[in-house]
Amino acid sequence: MGAPETMRAVVLTGHGGPERLELRSDWPRPVAGAGEAVVRVGACGLNTTDVNTRTGWYSKAVRGGSTGTAAGGGAVGDGGWGGARPRFPFVQGADVAGTVVRVGAGADPGLVGRRVLVDPWLRDPAAPLDPARCTYLGSDRDGGFAEEVAVPAGNVHPLESALTDAELATFPTSSLTAENMLDRAAVGAADVVLVTGASGGVGSALVQLARRRGATVVALAAEAKHAALAALGASAVLPRAPADLAAALDAALGRATVTVVADVVGGAGWPQLLDRLAHGGRYVGSGAIAGPIVELDLRTLYLRDLTLLGATVVPPGTFARLVGYVERGELRPLLAAAYPLERLREAQAAFLEKRHVGNVVVTVADPAAAAPPT
Ligand SMILES: NC(=O)c1ccc[n+]([C@@H]2O[C@H](COP(=O)([O-])OP(=O)(O)OC[C@H]3O[C@@H](n4cnc5c(N)ncnc54)[C@H](OP(=O)(O)O)[C@@H]3O)[C@@H](O)[C@H]2O)c1
Repeated sequence: MGAPETMRAVVLTGHGGPERLELRSDWPRPVAGAGEAVVRVGACGLNTTDVNTRTGWYSKAVRGGSTGTAAGGGAVGDGGWGGARPRFPFVQGADVAGTVVRVGAGADPGLVGRRVLVDPWLRDPAAPLDPARCTYLGSDRDGGFAEEVAVPAGNVHPLESALTDAELATFPTSSLTAENMLDRAAVGAADVVLVTGASGGVGSALVQLARRRGATVVALAAEAKHAALAALGASAVLPRAPADLAAALDAALGRATVTVVADVVGGAGWPQLLDRLAHGGRYVGSGAIAGPIVELDLRTLYLRDLTLLGATVVPPGTFARLVGYVERGELRPLLAAAYPLERLREAQAAFLEKRHVGNVVVTVADPAAAAPPT
């Protein structure tokens, strides 16, 4: 018997509040196009990208932090991460762990039945190295908040792991972003890296991956999460926004400067972060959860020969490297909570409370194995 032509999916119907996330049971089941693989989703991780797209936060009209409430940017028409209006309705969800169930013409049939993690960066086959032509799973094409998702076969990475799908789904976006930030800033064992938002998905991956390179890590996080970050290998853990960052660093490390700032927070504390960079230091940023508009004293930048780096589109090859880290146990999953797909709104509300360490995911029951949960 063939698979039914429709499936359960949570569909984002437009910019707005959580009510824009609608559970459907009539969403088209994906067909494996030429060169594609269809993955039965075991679990899919949550990301701030999903929230920001729903609220229209990426719009240049928005100047405040990412809070999960409708940011007003949707009205301007530039509320997607790439600067355009997303093509609603569509299925979000970038971080897919599951099993390949079908492949299209030209894709390796040996993939069917393999357990995989999916690389969310979708490359133009005509120009795979051109970051300007990369698109993102769950933003530019239907993602993993569904029973199944179709992706280019090159994006599925079979892996051997004792981890659950829920644990595996904590990795893709957060650890890809973190590893790319560390690559962009050329972080090595001699570096002292200050990580903001260190308890979150990207931040906790930054702590682990910078430690993996032998760097010394200082983490900024809410006090309730300090023990968890020390357990990941941070040499010092400081409050989310220390009143005097220089003094706090000096007290913790015996030095008031760092060589690298790896930042996902931005906002009002940003000038203090930049001011903690030693001569020749590198700032790398991939997020602005506390606010995208910051004050830059150009004298800090040029008199200290600093480098400012942005990090979003991840070069090919990085995902395969991360899968190796996961298989070898060099990167630990930090699964804060797992909700069934049907409770995605609740999962996102919990994600927005920022009490978690690591990531929140939704799990998707195998439709062939069980009746849908009520
Ligand atoms: N460019 C990219 O490709 C890319 C990819 C992934 C994520 N991002 C961005 O990176 C940022 C972090 O993502 P994530 O998935 O790691 O998020 P997350 O899991 O929610 O972690 C972010 C953490 O930042 C801390 N924080 C500090 N100031 C905050 C504030 N004003 N509001 C809320 N949280 C604050 C919180 O930890 P404490 O409570 O411990 O302070 C929070 O848990 C987001 O802005 C996201 O959009 C960008």
